[in-house]
Amino acid sequence: MITSFFCPTTIYMGEGSYKKVAEVIAKLACQRIFIALDAALLKTEFYAGIATLLHDAKVSTALFTEIEPDPSALTVEKAFAVCQAHKATVILAIGGGSTIDVAKAVGILATNGGRIHDYEGIEKFLIPPLPLIAIPTTAGTGSEVSGSCVITDTEKNLKMSIRHAALNPATFAILDPLALRTVPAHVAAHSGIDAFVHAFESYISLGSNLMTDAINLQAMALLAGNIRQFVANRQNTTAALNMLCGSALAGITFGQTGLGNVHCMARFVGAEFHLSHGLSNAVCLPHVARFNLLAVPEKFARVAEVMGCSVQGQPTLQAAHTAVQAITALCADLSIPSRLRDVGAKQECFDDMAQACFAANYNRWNPRHTTAADFRSLFDQAY
Ligand SMILES: [Fe+2]
Repeated sequence: MITSFFCPTTIYMGEGSYKKVAEVIAKLACQRIFIALDAALLKTEFYAGIATLLHDAKVSTALFTEIEPDPSALTVEKAFAVCQAHKATVILAIGGGSTIDVAKAVGILATNGGRIHDYEGIEKFLIPPLPLIAIPTTAGTGSEVSGSCVITDTEKNLKMSIRHAALNPATFAILDPLALRTVPAHVAAHSGIDAFVHAFESYISLGSNLMTDAINLQAMALLAGNIRQFVANRQNTTAALNMLCGSALAGITFGQTGLGNVHCMARFVGAEFHLSHGLSNAVCLPHVARFNLLAVPEKFARVAEVMGCSVQGQPTLQAAHTAVQAITALCADLSIPSRLRDVGAKQECFDDMAQACFAANYNRWNPRHTTAADFRSLFDQAY
C-alpha cells in the first residue's frame, strides 16, 4: 500500500508564544483581521494580551464571539457576514475546536463563495481559504492542524464534515499553555481523552504508516503522561504545553490515517443522547479498546509501553491487555463515567445506532472488521 504524510501548518509553541501573533501578521502584511473568539476568553488576561499586540500593530479588528458547541451553518453565515463587511484578509481563531472550525469555514467561504453546505465532503473546494492563525484554548480536537472542520446543518440535523488535508489546516498554529489556564477541569478531561483517542485510533488504523506511527506514539506518551496533572491543575504550564503538543501531533495524523470505532460510536452516542464529543468518546473508549486488541496486539503492547506500564519481557498479548487496563484506569482517574447508562443512554436506541455505525463504514480504518451485530454488542457492553 502507498501512503503519504505531510503537515502544511507552521507551529509555534511555548509559554508566551502568543506574542508571535505580531510577527505573523507582519509576515502576512495584515491590516484588517477577523477574530473568531470563544466568548469565555473575552475578559481574560490572555485575550487582553493579544488585543494589545493587534492594537500596537495598528491592525483593524472585527470580533465574533457568538459560537456555540457543535457550531451550525447559520453561525458560519453570521460570522462570514462580519468578516466580509470588515474586508478582512486574515482570520485569527482563539478558542476550542468549535471556534477554530467556524474560522476555517469562514475562510473557505471568503475565497470560494457559496454556502458551507457546498463544500461538505473531501476536497470540494479548490481555492486556498484566507490565511488562518489558530490559537487553541483546549487540548483536544487538534483542529488547528487537522484538515477538517465539522459544521452542523440544523435543518437536516446532520453534521457536515468539510475535509481538505492540504488546504483546511490553519496556516499558523500557536500552542501557548497560557491559553489553557481558564479551562474547566471536566472540559480538560474530556477534550484531553478525545486527543488521546485521536492518537490511539490513528496509531492502530489500517491507514497508519511509519511516519504517523512515530508521531502517534509520542502523542500518546505526552497525553497519557500529562493529562492527570493537567486536569488537576490547569495552571501547570508544563503539563498544559505537553497536552497541547500531544493534541496537535494527533491532529496532524488522524486526518491522514482515519479514525476507528470509538469515534464511530461516539458520533451517534453524542447525537442521540446530547453529550459532548469528548465525553462520548471517553465512555466508549475502554470497551472498544478491548474489542480491537485482537487485531493488533503488538501495537497495543507498544501503547502499554508509551503509557508508562512495566511490560518489558512480557509476552505480547499480556502487554496488550495491560494497555487496555491502563486506558481503563486513566478514564477512571479522570472521573469519566464507565457506562453509557450513567450518561443517560437508552438501550432501545442501540439497534438503530449499530446499523448507523456499520453504514458509516469505519471498517475502512478500524483494525478489527466490525459488523452491525458487533456494534450492537459493543453498545450493550458499554451500557
Ligand atoms: Fe475527536
